Amino acid sequence: MLTARAQQSLDTLDAQALAEIRTLRDETERFMLRYKFGMDEVITKLSILREEFNQAHDYNPIEHVSSRLKSLDSVIAKLQRKGIEPSFESITERVTDIAGVRVTCSFVSDAYRIFELLTAQPDVTVLRVKDYIASPKANGYQSLHAIIEVPVFLSTGAHPVAVEVQIRTIAMDFWASLEHKIYYKYDRQVPDSLLDQLTDAARTASELDERMETLHRRVHGEPVPRHGGHGPVAV
Ligand code: GTP
Ligand code: MG
Repeated sequence: MLTARAQQSLDTLDAQALAEIRTLRDETERFMLRYKFGMDEVITKLSILREEFNQAHDYNPIEHVSSRLKSLDSVIAKLQRKGIEPSFESITERVTDIAGVRVTCSFVSDAYRIFELLTAQPDVTVLRVKDYIASPKANGYQSLHAIIEVPVFLSTGAHPVAVEVQIRTIAMDFWASLEHKIYYKYDRQVPDSLLDQLTDAARTASELDERMETLHRRVHGEPVPRHGGHGPVAV
């Protein structure tokens, strides 16, 4: 129900303005829906890889998959923050994290393996890769990020949609979720001593990943390379 005041403002709009608002609303819904479809496609690709891998190798390289669609409010906030023009074209080009999929793996080698298997698919185009596993951020953050594009087939034809995929280990994910909470708890002004401890904890997480990988390889009778046996992604 609208308040009397809101109703009064609405009454002052002429029919043409109302029609334009409705058109924009519908276009925005359609625009956002494409990202949901793109995200669903990537999730399906990952479920297929997971099931097939389990069946063929009796092994599951994916521990967990989660996803989120950016809210319209967050998209608008990002446009304002980054000074991006509010048109569908510039959003398509510059806001590439509307659809986000996060894959958690047990081991670092699995993270790279999933990345390779996903991006090798012929309908997947890699737009950008940030390998924060090979080159962690200064705060210690580790994760393999890829902006990929997948075609979404609608009644109007194929539409390429960008999806941000973050692939990381359980240890990296544990660290990132805690860091995220601390960051917001302190309203982005985290005290230096806490920052140092967080960076130190990231090193511990990384060491744990290496030890677990080594153990895992021993159990499976695989050779243990000196640096974990996985390489950075060439960008
Ligand atoms: P945004 O425009 O802020 O999304 O980042 P970007 O375009 O510079 O991309 P980047 O790949 O660096 O980061 C994308 C996403 O990765 C972020 O939105 C977070 O979800 C995650 N991320 C990046 N850095 C950090 C970090 O230091 N800590 C945590 N917890 N998450 C991070
Ligand atoms: Mg983002």
